[in-house]
Amino acid sequence: MILRPVIVRIPNAPAKGGPRPARHLSTNSATHSAANADRPRGPAVRALQQEYSRKAIAECARRMGLPRTGWSKDGDGRPMPLDGAYWSVSHKPHYAAAVIADAPVGIDVEQLLPRRDESLFDAVATSGEWSAIGERSWESFFRLWTAKEAVLKANGVGIGGLPQCRLAGVVDAKLMTLTFEDRSWPVAHTYFDGHVVAVTTLGRAVEWRTLPTV
Ligand SMILES: CC(C)(COP(=O)(O)OP(=O)(O)OC[C@H]1O[C@@H](n2cnc3c(N)ncnc32)[C@H](O)[C@@H]1OP(=O)(O)O)[C@@H](O)C(=O)NCCC(=O)NCCS
Repeated sequence: MILRPVIVRIPNAPAKGGPRPARHLSTNSATHSAANADRPRGPAVRALQQEYSRKAIAECARRMGLPRTGWSKDGDGRPMPLDGAYWSVSHKPHYAAAVIADAPVGIDVEQLLPRRDESLFDAVATSGEWSAIGERSWESFFRLWTAKEAVLKANGVGIGGLPQCRLAGVVDAKLMTLTFEDRSWPVAHTYFDGHVVAVTTLGRAVEWRTLPTV
């Protein structure tokens, strides 16, 4: 089975003054302060993001010949497998991402925007992990952050599991391996329009599909 995550653009994300344009990072762009100050927020924004993550999961299912509906969560908000099909979604103001697999799977999308708080570098990874990555930049931060969130989601745990999730090795710019509870998780990344997406499952090739919207 090849993993085919679907990423969809969320149209007209409401924000004061209109949607924020996506920006690409450079290593010195952490000096841009107030990066998230005008990031779209609030219940209406979240509802729109959820709506598009459901469209993304429906499109993913359609492409796999699976039911477009019936993808529901348990009482703790974890996606529940549907007839042996595991699924995961992620949503940010401008994009929603979804994936379905025949094994536990996790996906996470982030916009590549620097934060004010540089202590996040040490919150997301140890000095040993930063040495393996090689560059302490916001781009590397979001790569590792999305990788860890994807692995945590695949394991059905929230951010509380972060200390148990460790970088085991970097294969290349688009593939790394993490460990969680003695299991090894290959994580594939893709980059587009100032965003990064990570997906993980147990040993599958990944074919990304980014759609203007669905
Ligand atoms: C799941 C989690 C790990 C990620 O959430 P997030 O990055 O805020 O949001 P995402 O859009 O990427 O993912 C949300 C989806 O994860 C799924 N999810 C929620 N809890 C989950 C769990 N325990 N296991 C697997 N998936 C879960 C849900 O489907 C949810 O989407 P929905 O509410 O539309 O159904 C969350 O539990 C969490 O702990 N978030 C902390 C985020 C944070 O601190 N970010 C700071 C960045 S510097």
